[in-house]
Amino acid sequence: MHHCITVGLDERSYPIYIGRDLFAQLSRLLPQLPKQILIVTNQIVAPLYLAAVQQALGEHRLVTHVIGDGEAEKSLHNYQQIMDTLIAHNFNRDCAVIALGGGVVGDLAGFVAATFQRGVSFYQIPTTLLAQVDSSVGGKTAVNHPGGKNLIGAFYQPQAVVIDTDCLVTLTDRDYACGLAEVIKYGIIHDAEFFGWLEAHSQDLVHREPQAVTYAVRRSCEIKAEIVAADEREQNQRALLNLGHTFGHAIEASHYDSWHHGEAVAAGTVIAAEFMRQQGELAEPEAQRIKTLLQACNLPVVAPKMPLSQWQDYMQRDKKVKAGQLRLVLPTAIGAACLRTVTDWDSVARAIDRCSEHD
Ligand code: NAD
Ligand code: GLY
Repeated sequence: MHHCITVGLDERSYPIYIGRDLFAQLSRLLPQLPKQILIVTNQIVAPLYLAAVQQALGEHRLVTHVIGDGEAEKSLHNYQQIMDTLIAHNFNRDCAVIALGGGVVGDLAGFVAATFQRGVSFYQIPTTLLAQVDSSVGGKTAVNHPGGKNLIGAFYQPQAVVIDTDCLVTLTDRDYACGLAEVIKYGIIHDAEFFGWLEAHSQDLVHREPQAVTYAVRRSCEIKAEIVAADEREQNQRALLNLGHTFGHAIEASHYDSWHHGEAVAAGTVIAAEFMRQQGELAEPEAQRIKTLLQACNLPVVAPKMPLSQWQDYMQRDKKVKAGQLRLVLPTAIGAACLRTVTDWDSVARAIDRCSEHD
């Protein structure tokens, strides 16, 4: 039994299959797979799930490329090495690339698929909660450059996404909580009812109760699919998916060895809510509910101590900055958010200060 959600993009529409034990059903779910397939995965995921995927796709000609673990692997060096593998095995335009792993593997393999022979079929099999609810859906692919994250990439939609929620059991608590930050984001920006459901089921989610996890993944994918279908190239609505990210990127960039992305987004979301509370545009109890839910999901809600000038420097590097002006995603209620140009730095600084560690 599985759910199927469609990302509606006309002739580039594709299904997201969500359920338990789906690796075993890959051939049935993806009957259009070509003979030549490259599976890109990493050294953590390969020993856990590669054999199951290989077994399910037994009749295909499979080549596997295993990368190391971590954000640093989303590199031009690995991009080149995967291209070398495809060329060494004489892969042609009829091949497919499958990403089996978290967002790092998915973004890298997707960029390879987008550019090998000007584009070949691409399939996502995401194995982290973050990848299942966010990065595998919507077609953003990229590698990092020493000058910044995701600076080289393309919009390139997959042919299908297969989400087997069973594989979340092996995630570390920390990586799992980071994925929950993105799940909560959907409730805040788009769906008050879902936010209420998350509040009621936070402990089921923390304990990875399968039914709760599957519902949370499903609803998150439905919301992401709806937003991507409405605004594939991030001209407006898609930018709302960056709630908490401008503050979060400042935390990540300055504390890359100690803060993970989802953690930084959680603390950043609390700052965004506090900013709106101070402006009188978000009711105090709603700001509190956001903080309480993040905390209940074991996410940090207080940002690390950092000079305000440093915050400003990092936030000015955000991709949403236009003509030197900050543009922030801000919650206006639980279930609604806006993208707004903010010129009053003092007010932003007040919100940051209130939500940061002090001596
Ligand atoms: P990740 O891919 O590094 O995975 C996190 C950790 O979990 C890694 O150590 C990985 O090896 C491990 N792992 C993966 N699956 C596992 C499993 N089932 N069991 C045990 N361990 C497992 O990181 P992530 O959080 O999945 O993704 C972050 C990346 O995604 C960043 O590069 C970010 O830029 C990107 N991203 C992309 C988009 C997009 O729209 N394309 C959206 C959000 C984030
Ligand atoms: N994760 C942001 C996006 O897909 O647009």
